Amino acid sequence: MYVCICNGITDSEIRDAAARGVGTLEELTMRTGCGSGCGSCIDVAREILAEARAPAIRAFPLRLAVAA
Ligand code: FES
Repeated sequence: MYVCICNGITDSEIRDAAARGVGTLEELTMRTGCGSGCGSCIDVAREILAEARAPAIRAFPLRLAVAA
């Protein structure tokens, strides 16, 4: 499914970018152009990116620092 019509970016390409380490919308825009035109795809692109990144975040959760 096309997510970004302006740049021809699909949901598969966003998931692929997430699998390659893209973690933020800004990085996705830099690497694919998604969201760099009219901007109407940004909310959906952000949701797909977050959904695609969720397993990686669960696999490697950050530990909270505890003050001594
Ligand atoms: S649809 Fe993505 S920038 Fe226009």
